[in-house]
Amino acid sequence: MKRIDRETIGKILDAADIVDVVSDFVSLKRRGANYIGLCPFHNERTPSFSVSKARGICKCFSCGKGGSAVGFIMEHEGYSYNEALRYLAKKYHIEIKEEEMSPEEQQADLERESMLAINEWAMERFRYFLTQTESGRDIGLSYFRERGINDTMIERYRLGYDLLNDELSKEALVAGYNEKYLIETGLSYRKESTGKLCDRFKGRVIFPVFSVSGKVVAFGGRTLKSDKNVAKYVNSPESIIYSKSSEVYGLYQAKQAIVKKGFCILTEGYMDVISMSQAGIENVVASSGTSLTKGQIRLIHRFTDKVTVMYDSDAAGIKASMRGIDLLLAEGLDIYIILLPEGDDPDSFAQSHSSTEVEEYIATKSEDFISFKTKILIGDAGDDPIKRTMAIKDVVGSIAVIPDELKRTVYIQECSRMLNMSEETLKRQVSIVRRKNYEAVQKEKEKEAARESIADIVETQPDTAVSKPNQRRNEPRYFTLGDYEKEVLRYIVRYGCLHACYNIDKNTGDSTSMNILHFIANDLTNDGITFSDPDNAALFSEALMISGCFEEDLRAAALQAEEIKKEYFEKGVEEIRATAKNFDEIRKREEFLREKALAEYDRYLHDFAVSYLERHLISSSNDRVRRLATDLAMEKHKLSKYHSRFSKVTTEEDRIIQLVVQAMNVWKLAILHQREADILQRMQAALAASNSEEVEKLMIEKHKLYQEKKEFGHLLGDRVTCSSNK
Ligand code: UTP
Ligand code: MN
Repeated sequence: MKRIDRETIGKILDAADIVDVVSDFVSLKRRGANYIGLCPFHNERTPSFSVSKARGICKCFSCGKGGSAVGFIMEHEGYSYNEALRYLAKKYHIEIKEEEMSPEEQQADLERESMLAINEWAMERFRYFLTQTESGRDIGLSYFRERGINDTMIERYRLGYDLLNDELSKEALVAGYNEKYLIETGLSYRKESTGKLCDRFKGRVIFPVFSVSGKVVAFGGRTLKSDKNVAKYVNSPESIIYSKSSEVYGLYQAKQAIVKKGFCILTEGYMDVISMSQAGIENVVASSGTSLTKGQIRLIHRFTDKVTVMYDSDAAGIKASMRGIDLLLAEGLDIYIILLPEGDDPDSFAQSHSSTEVEEYIATKSEDFISFKTKILIGDAGDDPIKRTMAIKDVVGSIAVIPDELKRTVYIQECSRMLNMSEETLKRQVSIVRRKNYEAVQKEKEKEAARESIADIVETQPDTAVSKPNQRRNEPRYFTLGDYEKEVLRYIVRYGCLHACYNIDKNTGDSTSMNILHFIANDLTNDGITFSDPDNAALFSEALMISGCFEEDLRAAALQAEEIKKEYFEKGVEEIRATAKNFDEIRKREEFLREKALAEYDRYLHDFAVSYLERHLISSSNDRVRRLATDLAMEKHKLSKYHSRFSKVTTEEDRIIQLVVQAMNVWKLAILHQREADILQRMQAALAASNSEEVEKLMIEKHKLYQEKKEFGHLLGDRVTCSSNK
């Protein structure tokens, strides 16, 4: 495995000026400390796209897209991390050095890397089992043959098979892979009864799930039995490398075709994607059985504005999926629908028709979703006036979520014809729904605003002329543990490498400086707290890893700062010599200059330390870490602002330690609340089961918790205790 070496990445990130990089695609104007322009990721007439030169980040305050220079190029060009780095290297004429990764290094690298490496290895083993072993060929390969899948598709989608005798787990251990990662990736599990390490996908054919950049993040295994009691598909569990709701099956293989053809075909399952692809329709992806999430839609939106949904014609299915489609519309995508002949799904249709037939069917049978929906609903309603009204309301609801005004108008015209109803009436109805939706969003915002102080809101807006963020409307009303974790992580991203306190060695009495990140890490270890959200955990462990290079990089930066100081001083001295009237003046002014040069030196190193983690995290090669870090870097405050009444006089940085401690305590309190809720739930169950022994035990537990909570109450002040109690 080759990778761009650390030094080269550092050079690229240092050279890439965000304003310069974005300017190649967006025309930017200076506005205060920032630059603004029209967002390249969505259609708009007033600029919402803000670029901060100092922080190296850009972000659209309307659609939320953006990131570091690397993130921007990835998003804009649909590049992988490495492709984006190469693009930037070329732009800045930086020579790329690659280095070979040794097996040990791969092991020692991030947890994430280890898990990806195991998955990659397992995928190859599954492929080997399928094609090179006798039982694999007899069972797995003949199954694919039966389903009409050819070798090209087996290759393209890297299909495989897992043998019946837990071969994979055994081989993995022999090959030196860590059992921990076998279990975390879900490839293996320990059987409770025997303690044996078993294969999760035993006897199943394997469908690897690739991330957009081509990493194997998960597997789906299909059973070959028709037994209804056996789960048809077993999928990898969620982990730090796999979040089901942010992957789209087949997108990695389809992305180029999607861009080329200008649209994406959305199906439901693995087999649909593969059979369609075999029929030459390569711009096809699957939602994997569940309705699409916002994250998945955004991912697709990176490559196209147009999604064609392919359905089997079963009526219940159509109606169930219609609801999910409003989410696609709300993201500004144009939606089309293709209805298949009775009894067909995309897989069976593609298998029973020639490529030209499939192609022709798609070209001729694709219908605009809103018109389609109107037709179906109105047809179902017949002459029943109540049903008709309901149907119209439903259609109006879909039109109302479309962000683009022009598109809405066109739909209103079209539906007015279909529904035999005046445009005016429809238009009014759409306006009413839009106002209602808007009010709901506003209410949500007000609630949020009430939690933040005015000072913070002003600070949050990067530029008052820029339209306000509107993507918050779907955020949960209540904070989850993950939100509390993010608040702590935000301090890590923004200030992690700053000095926090001195750590005094009990034996030697030596004191060493401890930074914010390690201060937090220490505290978490002491209290045995871990992150509940896998993205949060991933960001934290990457921060720890990055900070391992801080000292070394700081030394390099100090040399640089020394140079700057020297230059600054020498220039000043020249000027003094040229302009001073006497020796005394020279002496005094030089003294002053020396101090200023020293201050300059300190400021340079300070800025370097403050921005160190942020700079690396917003350009992380891990998609989820990079996105989360970018969000945290842009976000001012997320949770309750009990401390902000003081923030007018001092900056966040001045009070960093105090803020961190408070954020940690709020988080810990939230954990206690969760535990309490948990105990209460168990108590109810125990009461219902008249299990008095258990009730007794839980009472004691609850009392202990109560004591702990009281302690935190003192630490945090009553206000916080109340507000989190809601
Ligand atoms: P389908 O049942 O339509 O599966 O579920 P399929 O892909 O068409 O497979 P065949 O044709 O029966 O072999 C659609 C998708 O839902 C997910 C899978 O991603 C599947 O591709 N699914 C389904 C599961 O994850 N688990 C299940 O038990 C069933
Ligand atoms: Mn199927």
